[in-house]
Order: sequence, then C-alpha cells, then structure tokens
Amino acid sequence: MKPNQFLNSSKKTQIENMFDSISVEYDFLNRVMTFGNDIRWKKKMYSIAKSHDPKTILDIATGTADIALELAKIKDAKIIGVDISEKMLEVGRKKVVAKNLSDTVVLKSGDAENLSYSDSSFDVVTIGFGVRNFQNLEKGLEESCRVLKSNGVLIILETSVPKNIIIRFFYFLFSRSFIPFVGSVFSKEKKAYQYLQKSAEKFPSGKRFVSILENCGFNNVDVKPLMLGATSIYIATK
Ligand SMILES: C[S@@+](CC[C@H](N)C(=O)[O-])C[C@H]1O[C@@H](n2cnc3c(N)ncnc32)[C@H](O)[C@@H]1O
Repeated sequence: MKPNQFLNSSKKTQIENMFDSISVEYDFLNRVMTFGNDIRWKKKMYSIAKSHDPKTILDIATGTADIALELAKIKDAKIIGVDISEKMLEVGRKKVVAKNLSDTVVLKSGDAENLSYSDSSFDVVTIGFGVRNFQNLEKGLEESCRVLKSNGVLIILETSVPKNIIIRFFYFLFSRSFIPFVGSVFSKEKKAYQYLQKSAEKFPSGKRFVSILENCGFNNVDVKPLMLGATSIYIATK
C-alpha cells in the first residue's frame, strides 16, 4: 500500500518524501511507539549477525543508522548503510561522526530494489523495518539475495500480526489508537503515522513472509517472534 492512495506519485517517491519529512523526530517516536524495545530488537539483530563472524555487512533501509551503528560493534566488520531518504541518512551521518565510527560505517544513498553492488559482495545483509515500505517487495528481496555471498545471511526485523486471536484483538485495539495518537501529538505528519500503522497490519508476516523469502532465493528461514508476535526477526540463508 502507498502512504497516500489519492496521489499519482509512486510508492517509492511517497516513502522517500514521508521519511524525509519525519527524519528529525523518527528516533524519538520510534522509541515511544515501541516502548524502547526497538533498541533491544536491534541488539538481537547484532547478536545474530555477530554469530556469523561477518566482515562485510550491508544494512538496507538503514534510515538513521541505529542498526548499522549496532553492527559496528562486530570486530573487523565494515558496514555500508543505504537508504532512499537523504534526510534520514543526514541524521544517521551525524550519529556516525559523533560515535567516531566513520572508518567502519559508511552511509550512502541507495535503492533496495536496484542496488549498485556486485553479486556476492556481502557476508550479511540486514533490513530493519524496511521491507514493508518497499515498492516491489520481491525485487528488493531478490536484490538482497544477489548481493549476498553464497551461504550469506539475511536478517530482517519487521512488524508482524500476532497469531493468537486474543492477543491479536488487543494488538489491533492498541495499534489503531496508540500509534496514530502518538503521531498526532508529536509530529506534524499525522498521515505518516496512519500509514505506518495500516501498512503493519497489511504486511504479509509469519509463514506468508517465509514463503516469499523462499521464492526469492532464500533457504532455512527461521522466524523469531518478539513482543507477543507484534514484531518478528527472520533469518534466512542464501
Ligand atoms: C521505518 S524506517 C527504518 C529505519 C531503520 N532501519 C530502523 O530500523 O530504525 C524505514 C526506512 O526504509 C527506507 N526505505 C524504504 N524503501 C526503500 C528502498 N526501496 N530502498 C532503500 N531504503 C528504503 C526509508 O527511507 C526509511 O528510512
């Protein structure tokens, strides 16, 4: 789904503009909306990545670079973060400089669906809360597969809908009121937060996403549900 169905512009253009417009408040609101859990989830991505001892990592849809900065703790690893939103990258670059990590983390403008890297370039690819914003999900995943080395690992963090019917009821109740409310109080861009909530409900999570990953060239897909299934980490091998 597009952030605004009534505009003719492509989903990609709308997503780029939307994240440009919320880049300054993004980190703060992410923390509020996940009750600070996003930090824990990103640390989990780091632990999974570290266990594969990667030297080259691509963080797709890196945004303000929280995941890239977490991955920079892996000894001798070089991280490239790419994103289509220049304003999100600007916030990220300031954090990289502040942490004195410019030799380890490089942030570049780049589209997940058309990556400028050769086949088999990376040991690990990570994508945090990015895939549901892709214009063409399969194309983005196939590109991730292409740039991964053989046996390389893809780690995706994404919202999901809880399987349990009771938990799902409370999840809908909460997400349909709390996320748009927080967006309307703390941001001028109310529509962006309505889109983020609705796209989370619509995104094919769990088994459906596993089968999409398999169709895009990945094997051994493992799913780790977090926060009662409201978020999941998917780990897949090329
Ligand atoms: C919700 S933010 C996530 C940022 C960061 N990964 C995190 O976990 O905090 C989603 C990011 O995906 C980026 N994005 C969406 N589609 C993209 C694409 N096709 N290629 C690269 N980045 C994309 C957006 O610009 C935005 O910065």
